[in-house]
Amino acid sequence: MAITTQQLMQWKQQGRPIVALTAWDYTSAQLLDKAGVDLILVGDSLAVILGYETTLPITLEEMLHHAKAVRRGVNRALMVVDLPFLTYQESLQQAMHSAGRVLKETGAQAVKLEGGYPAMASTVAQLVQAGIPVMGHVGLTPQSVHQIGLRQQGKTPEAETRILEEAIALEQAGAFSIVLEHIPAQLALQITQKLSIPTIGIGAGPHCDGQVLVTADLLGLSERQPPFAKSYANLRETITQAVQSYAIEVREHKFPYNVET
Ligand code: KIV
Repeated sequence: MAITTQQLMQWKQQGRPIVALTAWDYTSAQLLDKAGVDLILVGDSLAVILGYETTLPITLEEMLHHAKAVRRGVNRALMVVDLPFLTYQESLQQAMHSAGRVLKETGAQAVKLEGGYPAMASTVAQLVQAGIPVMGHVGLTPQSVHQIGLRQQGKTPEAETRILEEAIALEQAGAFSIVLEHIPAQLALQITQKLSIPTIGIGAGPHCDGQVLVTADLLGLSERQPPFAKSYANLRETITQAVQSYAIEVREHKFPYNVET
């Protein structure tokens, strides 16, 4: 049965951790979904898969194209799509238009956007009122890389308070869940205890209601990865070895094998 936003809420209440990963095409989505991942995010980290340095250049059209492919591979998981940089910050009308396109054109169940209090919380409230489920994202928000870098956030008492307030404002605005990225574990614990909606951590310690990783990092496909990521495989090496073996066999006339067709 397909997972809903309400199901995530129940899992928080039951203390059942939520497993989330990113996907970027039909094949990756199908593998993740069949492996039992609960939430599949078409994150704007897709930008890196497409060869961009940061998440800033990726367009809504690129996100829609990949999200449609992901949708074709997902049966069970809740599917969420990131709204890319400057497709929701300009005005409420712009946010509504972008989020509406994501839901109408891709079949995803929800959108995610970065930032909190006060501006983003009011946008979230309007989207939710229009029937669009929204996931928040606070702490390290990579779309603000040129303001805050890629450093851990929430390290001073003031920054801690601000992130906590942002999370509370997003919950009050009606967000169904919040990503906490690269903040101290104690702050993530405090937010997780304070909120009734599930927190999904990435580089935010073990106390969140769920965890998310960028799948390219998990698989060892990324050229660079953040310090908090963990690779469960080394696909860069596996793929390189497979391609080199193929090249050797072609050059040595060993592939295709000498079989009459
Ligand atoms: O874009 C992305 O992959 C994300 C995750 C880091 C949560 O937002």
